[in-house]
Amino acid sequence: MGFDTFCPDFYRPAFHRLPLGLPDPPPGLPFRLLLVPTSPVSSSKKSSSDSRSALHPLVEAAGRGEVPPWARVSQGRREHMERVSRLLGKWARTLKLPPEEEMRWRAAGILHDALKNERPAVLRKTLVPDLDHLPDALLHGPAAARRLKEEGVSDKDFLRAVAYHTLGHPKMGGVGRALVVADYIEPGRRDRKKWKKSRRSRMPQEFPLVLREVVRARILGTVGRDRTLHPETVGLWNKLAQESPWKQGTAGARQMALR
Ligand SMILES: [Fe+2]
Ligand SMILES: [Fe+2]
Repeated sequence: MGFDTFCPDFYRPAFHRLPLGLPDPPPGLPFRLLLVPTSPVSSSKKSSSDSRSALHPLVEAAGRGEVPPWARVSQGRREHMERVSRLLGKWARTLKLPPEEEMRWRAAGILHDALKNERPAVLRKTLVPDLDHLPDALLHGPAAARRLKEEGVSDKDFLRAVAYHTLGHPKMGGVGRALVVADYIEPGRRDRKKWKKSRRSRMPQEFPLVLREVVRARILGTVGRDRTLHPETVGLWNKLAQESPWKQGTAGARQMALR
């Protein structure tokens, strides 16, 4: 089972509802598991927009390329994270995003796979017991998001980007969408090299188009292997298909980046 595919065959009907005996999460929060209070820090009253105005020190450090001490990554994985981060930083600069936003994008590249090489049994322990049915491949995104939340990161959109980077999510903002693209087409990927190189050459100017092509490619790959699609992945596709046409060129790319 490929780890970074959108929809490996792990979907179970109950998964997206995470039967933990808790109420449904409010809109905008990834996974019910992220709602389980674990530390005083996670009770921050900051709103999503407030939390984006000043970056958490851990996010700022990751934006400078620093991997948190709790990360569990192989050398190869670390290099992948750095490539994704560089790509995101380059796109943010080209789109003339504010410096904090560029930092935030870079940080997403570093942090999304921070627990990729942690043992699944350990990741499961950091989540909640009811998540035993989740496949190993899905654990590192939610586990990293949960750890970031415990560390005090309250930027919900950022947490969602990390938690859902393998699946996609209809509520993903610009950073999550850019991460989905960068994670898939970064130059270290060995498959479909020509296709990915051509998409890199069109980024970020054609961000809305390339994002759709990436999501479509991942969905078709999953269906082609007779695997099930996760509802959040389908939700992202439907959202992209419904969104009104974006402005042409860099204006449209910036519009999506800052959404
Ligand atoms: Fe990943
Ligand atoms: Fe990745």
